[in-house]
Amino acid sequence: MEFQVVVNRRQMVRRFIDRKIPDVLVEQILANMFKGPSAGFSQGTEVLVIQGGQREKVYSLWGSKEDRRRSYPLSEGIEKAPLLLAVFVSKKKYEERYRMSDKQRYSQDDTWPAPFWFIDGGMAVLLALLSAIDQGLGALFTGIKDPTELRRRFSVPEEFIPLGVISIGYADHTYRSKPRVPRRPLSEVIHRGRWGE
Ligand SMILES: Cc1cc2nc3c(=O)[nH]c(=O)nc-3n(C[C@H](O)[C@H](O)[C@H](O)COP(=O)(O)O)c2cc1C
Repeated sequence: MEFQVVVNRRQMVRRFIDRKIPDVLVEQILANMFKGPSAGFSQGTEVLVIQGGQREKVYSLWGSKEDRRRSYPLSEGIEKAPLLLAVFVSKKKYEERYRMSDKQRYSQDDTWPAPFWFIDGGMAVLLALLSAIDQGLGALFTGIKDPTELRRRFSVPEEFIPLGVISIGYADHTYRSKPRVPRRPLSEVIHRGRWGE
Protein backbone atom coordinates (compact mmCIF):
# COMPACT_ATOMS: atom_id res chain seq x y z
CA MET A 1 0.00 0.00 0.00
CA GLU A 2 1.25 3.48 -0.78
CA PHE A 3 2.56 5.26 2.33
CA GLN A 4 0.17 8.23 2.06
CA VAL A 5 -2.79 5.83 1.80
CA VAL A 6 -1.64 4.06 4.97
CA VAL A 7 -1.36 7.40 6.80
CA ASN A 8 -4.77 8.57 5.53
CA ARG A 9 -6.38 5.34 6.78
CA ARG A 10 -4.68 5.51 10.18
CA GLN A 11 -7.50 5.45 12.66
CA MET A 12 -8.20 3.39 15.75
CA VAL A 13 -10.54 0.44 15.22
CA ARG A 14 -12.90 -0.45 18.07
CA ARG A 15 -14.83 -3.32 16.51
CA PHE A 16 -13.13 -6.34 15.02
CA ILE A 17 -14.46 -9.47 13.33
CA ASP A 18 -13.71 -13.03 14.43
CA ARG A 19 -10.92 -13.83 11.96
CA LYS A 20 -7.42 -15.16 12.50
CA ILE A 21 -4.40 -13.17 11.33
CA PRO A 22 -1.93 -15.20 9.22
CA ASP A 23 1.31 -15.80 11.16
CA VAL A 24 3.39 -14.19 8.42
CA LEU A 25 1.57 -10.88 8.98
CA VAL A 26 2.03 -11.09 12.74
CA GLU A 27 5.75 -11.63 12.29
CA GLN A 28 6.01 -8.70 9.87
CA ILE A 29 4.30 -6.35 12.32
CA LEU A 30 6.63 -7.49 15.10
CA ALA A 31 9.76 -7.07 12.98
CA ASN A 32 8.64 -3.62 11.80
CA MET A 33 8.20 -2.41 15.38
CA PHE A 34 11.93 -2.78 15.90
CA LYS A 35 12.96 -0.86 12.78
CA GLY A 36 12.25 2.45 14.51
CA PRO A 37 14.85 4.81 15.95
CA SER A 38 16.00 4.73 19.55
CA ALA A 39 18.01 7.29 21.50
CA GLY A 40 21.67 6.28 21.59
CA PHE A 41 20.42 3.08 19.98
CA SER A 42 19.52 2.03 23.52
CA GLN A 43 16.75 -0.27 22.20
CA GLY A 44 14.78 -0.29 25.42
CA THR A 45 11.45 -1.33 23.90
CA GLU A 46 10.19 -4.92 24.24
CA VAL A 47 6.91 -6.54 23.32
CA LEU A 48 4.77 -9.29 24.78
CA VAL A 49 2.68 -11.21 22.20
CA ILE A 50 -0.66 -12.36 23.59
CA GLN A 51 -3.07 -14.55 21.63
CA GLY A 52 -5.89 -17.02 22.18
CA GLY A 53 -7.04 -17.71 25.75
CA GLN A 54 -4.21 -15.63 27.22
CA ARG A 55 -6.01 -12.45 26.11
CA GLU A 56 -8.47 -12.81 28.97
CA LYS A 57 -5.54 -12.26 31.36
CA VAL A 58 -5.36 -8.72 29.96
CA TYR A 59 -9.09 -8.01 29.61
CA SER A 60 -9.91 -9.22 33.11
CA LEU A 61 -7.80 -6.36 34.50
CA TRP A 62 -10.91 -4.30 33.69
CA GLY A 63 -13.22 -6.68 35.58
CA SER A 64 -15.35 -9.69 34.72
CA LYS A 65 -16.76 -10.08 31.22
CA GLU A 66 -20.21 -9.03 32.45
CA ASP A 67 -18.85 -5.92 34.17
CA ARG A 68 -16.90 -4.96 31.05
CA ARG A 69 -19.92 -5.33 28.76
CA ARG A 70 -22.01 -3.25 31.14
CA SER A 71 -19.55 -0.44 31.79
CA TYR A 72 -18.01 -0.32 28.31
CA PRO A 73 -20.23 -1.85 25.59
CA LEU A 74 -17.51 -1.37 22.94
CA SER A 75 -15.41 -3.98 24.76
CA GLU A 76 -17.23 -6.82 23.00
CA GLY A 77 -16.08 -5.69 19.54
CA ILE A 78 -12.60 -4.80 20.76
CA GLU A 79 -12.08 -8.20 22.39
CA LYS A 80 -12.61 -10.01 19.08
CA ALA A 81 -9.13 -8.90 17.99
CA PRO A 82 -7.04 -12.10 17.88
CA LEU A 83 -3.72 -10.40 18.59
CA LEU A 84 -2.63 -8.27 21.52
CA LEU A 85 0.79 -6.68 21.70
CA ALA A 86 1.70 -5.32 25.11
CA VAL A 87 4.51 -2.81 24.69
CA PHE A 88 7.05 -2.23 27.45
CA VAL A 89 9.98 0.13 27.88
CA SER A 90 12.99 0.01 30.16
CA LYS A 91 14.49 3.22 31.53
CA LYS A 92 17.39 1.10 32.83
CA LYS A 93 18.51 0.28 29.29
CA TYR A 94 18.90 4.03 28.60
CA GLU A 95 20.76 4.65 31.83
CA GLU A 96 23.17 1.83 31.01
CA ARG A 97 23.66 2.99 27.43
CA TYR A 98 24.18 6.64 28.42
CA ARG A 99 26.82 5.63 30.98
CA MET A 100 28.98 4.24 28.19
CA SER A 101 32.12 6.18 27.28
CA ASP A 102 30.70 7.69 24.07
CA LYS A 103 27.73 9.16 25.97
CA GLN A 104 27.71 10.12 29.68
CA ARG A 105 25.76 13.31 29.07
CA TYR A 106 22.71 12.46 31.13
CA SER A 107 24.00 9.82 33.48
CA GLN A 108 25.33 11.98 36.34
CA ASP A 109 22.25 13.84 37.55
CA ASP A 110 19.48 11.82 35.94
CA THR A 111 18.05 14.86 34.13
CA TRP A 112 16.73 13.76 30.81
CA PRO A 113 15.41 16.44 28.42
CA ALA A 114 12.51 14.10 27.75
CA PRO A 115 12.15 10.46 28.78
CA PHE A 116 13.66 8.86 25.68
CA TRP A 117 12.29 5.40 26.57
CA PHE A 118 8.72 6.66 26.21
CA ILE A 119 9.52 8.44 22.94
CA ASP A 120 11.09 5.32 21.44
CA GLY A 121 8.28 3.08 22.66
CA GLY A 122 5.73 5.39 21.06
CA MET A 123 7.59 5.15 17.78
CA ALA A 124 7.45 1.35 17.95
CA VAL A 125 3.71 1.52 18.65
CA LEU A 126 3.12 3.75 15.63
CA LEU A 127 5.11 1.37 13.43
CA ALA A 128 2.84 -1.46 14.58
CA LEU A 129 -0.31 0.59 13.89
CA LEU A 130 0.86 1.58 10.41
CA SER A 131 2.06 -1.97 9.61
CA ALA A 132 -1.36 -3.35 10.55
CA ILE A 133 -3.09 -0.90 8.21
CA ASP A 134 -0.64 -1.69 5.43
CA GLN A 135 -1.69 -5.34 5.74
CA GLY A 136 -5.40 -4.58 5.56
CA LEU A 137 -5.81 -4.98 9.31
CA GLY A 138 -7.07 -2.59 11.97
CA ALA A 139 -5.56 -1.72 15.33
CA LEU A 140 -6.31 0.02 18.60
CA PHE A 141 -3.88 1.31 21.20
CA THR A 142 -5.20 1.38 24.75
CA GLY A 143 -3.67 2.30 28.05
CA ILE A 144 -3.06 -0.21 30.83
CA LYS A 145 -5.35 -0.60 33.81
CA ASP A 146 -2.94 -2.01 36.40
CA PRO A 147 0.73 -2.11 35.35
CA THR A 148 1.89 -4.07 38.39
CA GLU A 149 -0.76 -6.75 38.01
CA LEU A 150 -0.14 -6.99 34.25
CA ARG A 151 3.56 -7.56 34.93
CA ARG A 152 2.76 -10.19 37.54
CA ARG A 153 0.37 -12.11 35.31
CA PHE A 154 2.93 -12.42 32.52
CA SER A 155 6.11 -12.63 34.66
CA VAL A 156 7.47 -9.36 33.27
CA PRO A 157 10.56 -8.06 35.14
CA GLU A 158 10.00 -4.90 37.18
CA GLU A 159 12.32 -2.76 35.05
CA PHE A 160 9.78 -2.83 32.21
CA ILE A 161 7.10 -0.13 32.23
CA PRO A 162 4.02 -1.05 30.19
CA LEU A 163 3.01 1.66 27.70
CA GLY A 164 -0.21 -0.01 26.67
CA VAL A 165 -1.71 -2.75 24.58
CA ILE A 166 -2.24 -2.80 20.82
CA SER A 167 -5.26 -4.87 19.73
CA ILE A 168 -4.90 -6.02 16.13
CA GLY A 169 -7.35 -7.80 13.87
CA TYR A 170 -9.62 -7.45 10.87
CA ALA A 171 -11.89 -4.43 11.25
CA ASP A 172 -15.66 -4.68 11.22
CA HIS A 173 -16.23 -2.01 8.58
CA THR A 174 -19.91 -1.70 9.43
CA TYR A 175 -18.87 0.28 12.50
CA ARG A 176 -16.69 3.35 12.91
CA SER A 177 -16.20 5.17 16.20
CA LYS A 178 -16.76 8.91 15.98
CA PRO A 179 -14.35 11.31 17.68
CA ARG A 180 -15.88 13.04 20.70
CA VAL A 181 -13.79 16.14 20.14
CA PRO A 182 -12.89 17.65 16.77
CA ARG A 183 -9.43 17.39 15.24
CA ARG A 184 -7.53 20.62 15.88
CA PRO A 185 -6.85 22.53 12.65
CA LEU A 186 -3.32 22.48 11.27
CA SER A 187 -3.24 26.30 11.50
CA GLU A 188 -3.53 25.95 15.28
CA VAL A 189 -0.91 23.25 15.84
CA ILE A 190 1.74 24.18 13.29
CA HIS A 191 3.89 27.20 14.14
CA ARG A 192 5.99 28.53 11.30
CA GLY A 193 9.08 30.42 12.39
CA ARG A 194 7.50 31.73 15.61
CA TRP A 195 4.79 30.70 18.05
CA GLY A 196 1.57 32.68 17.88
CA GLU A 197 -0.16 35.08 15.49
C1 LIG B 1 -1.32 7.08 24.56
C2 LIG B 1 -2.69 6.74 24.01
C3 LIG B 1 -3.61 6.11 24.84
C4 LIG B 1 -4.87 5.76 24.34
N1 LIG B 1 -5.72 5.07 25.15
C5 LIG B 1 -6.90 4.68 24.64
C6 LIG B 1 -7.78 3.88 25.44
O1 LIG B 1 -7.46 3.51 26.57
N2 LIG B 1 -8.96 3.52 24.89
C7 LIG B 1 -9.33 3.88 23.63
O2 LIG B 1 -10.42 3.52 23.18
N3 LIG B 1 -8.52 4.64 22.84
C8 LIG B 1 -7.31 5.03 23.31
N4 LIG B 1 -6.46 5.76 22.52
C9 LIG B 1 -6.88 6.16 21.17
C10 LIG B 1 -7.29 7.63 21.08
O3 LIG B 1 -8.54 7.81 21.70
C11 LIG B 1 -7.33 8.03 19.60
O4 LIG B 1 -6.05 7.93 19.06
C12 LIG B 1 -7.85 9.45 19.40
O5 LIG B 1 -9.18 9.55 19.81
C13 LIG B 1 -7.79 9.86 17.92
O6 LIG B 1 -8.52 8.96 17.12
P1 LIG B 1 -7.81 8.13 15.95
O7 LIG B 1 -6.56 7.52 16.50
O8 LIG B 1 -8.83 7.10 15.54
O9 LIG B 1 -7.51 9.10 14.85
C14 LIG B 1 -5.22 6.09 23.00
C15 LIG B 1 -4.27 6.72 22.18
C16 LIG B 1 -3.02 7.02 22.67
C17 LIG B 1 -2.02 7.66 21.74
